[in-house]
Amino acid sequence: MIPFYIETYGCQMNVSDSEVVASLLAGSGYVPCSRWEEARILLINTCSIRENAEKRVMNRLDHFARLKKKNPQLRVGVLGCMATRLKEQLLEHPAVDWVVGPDSYRHLPAMMGSPASAPLQTQLSLTETYADITPYRGREQTVTSFVTIMRGCDNLCAYCIVPYVRGRERSRDPQSIQAEVEALQKDGFKEVTLLGQNVNSYRWKAGEETVSFAGLLERIALAVPNLRIRFTTSHPKDMQDDVLHVMANHHNICKQIHLPVQSGSNAVLAKMNRKYTRETYLDRIRSIRTILPGCGISTDLIAGFCAETEEDHRLTLELMKEVRFDQAFMFQYSQRPNTLAARHYPDDVPEEEKTRRLSEIIALQNRLSLESNRADVGKTMEVLVEGTSKRSEEDLFGRTDTGKVCVFPKGTNRVGDLVHVRITSCTAATLKGDIV
Ligand code: SAH
Ligand code: SF4
Ligand code: F3S
Repeated sequence: MIPFYIETYGCQMNVSDSEVVASLLAGSGYVPCSRWEEARILLINTCSIRENAEKRVMNRLDHFARLKKKNPQLRVGVLGCMATRLKEQLLEHPAVDWVVGPDSYRHLPAMMGSPASAPLQTQLSLTETYADITPYRGREQTVTSFVTIMRGCDNLCAYCIVPYVRGRERSRDPQSIQAEVEALQKDGFKEVTLLGQNVNSYRWKAGEETVSFAGLLERIALAVPNLRIRFTTSHPKDMQDDVLHVMANHHNICKQIHLPVQSGSNAVLAKMNRKYTRETYLDRIRSIRTILPGCGISTDLIAGFCAETEEDHRLTLELMKEVRFDQAFMFQYSQRPNTLAARHYPDDVPEEEKTRRLSEIIALQNRLSLESNRADVGKTMEVLVEGTSKRSEEDLFGRTDTGKVCVFPKGTNRVGDLVHVRITSCTAATLKGDIV
């Protein structure tokens, strides 16, 4: 049995894919290990979303090359989005033995087993969903898990590399999703997050019947009443009220929506090819607030996209204040090769200007997050215990229904318990409280 280790970068989709890869290998004579030092095979699952993400991976590969010099038996494979983007170029790196894209993981065992087979497989597929593979979830995993419900993306947002490295959008059979979620419940998991780049365009045709995302969500909520359910990512152009009503009707669907806005300026949104306006975005927010009062709302923001003016930037800050996001992931624009933006628009906002705008966005969001958390002080909230706090052995941490991290003294509780916590204080990042 040859020990392997997978290091994962990028989004949850990659975390989920690494579990599929581990499962494929574990069934083919390889054994997963929890420390890379023990491995004979190192796999690195990579991300291309921003230049920095790729740089981190290249630094890791340089490190692996040094390890290989000391240990010539070591083999290294590059998986994920950089494999599709860079292909042969990666094989030129002294560390790299195999390059395998996100739709080619079934080839991995054969490639690794035979020196004669081609070391590069990066073909994208119109149909692969790995629906029949039960992901391998390591023992050190906590009580939360991720299930991929669709792959790829058909929205050509001008800045984004995902459609090029992940291929066309395709949904997974609802029956296989339900079976996987039920198995997770049996295995003692307490929460599952359904994953897709744009979950609202989930669609499965079975004869006359078409299953939409709202339909899938309802089916899963009913199938596993004791499991908390989350999902990500919702696209503002496709998120309809039907999903919100399903959320309102099922207590086990967490009241949290991640709705990336990217910019508050209509000119920038049009250029980004996001296919919604500031006004229609705000209309979606109003629907959430009406149908799901108290629902947590988070977003993604990009500072300094092509031709973004100071006025566009100000509109983003204004929109943030109007919506009062609970949390946000904030980035400065990074041009990605061959995307619509790279081909059509100059990357013309100077670096220091991007950095300044991003820091203004971050400062504002810190204030909004703090205010959002302060509004929870005094409330009692349901929290799923996920683990021991990083700061103190005496404290546990978990997430509220609305997706906020909460820390509280251990008492007699254990990971996996659903507890009620009275919030007593907070920072911008964390709620603190006591179990009641
Ligand atoms: N499918 C999701 C997001 C996928 S990528 C959606 O549609 O929202 C996650 C986030 O990374 C994006 O929401 C965006 O904010 C950011 N991002 C993507 N490409 C980027 C780029 N080229 N530069 C900076 N940020 C980027
Ligand atoms: Fe990228 Fe847009 Fe697809 Fe999200 S919806 S993955 S931002 S192209
Ligand atoms: Fe995810 Fe990065 Fe690929 S965000 S889909 S791992 S480019």
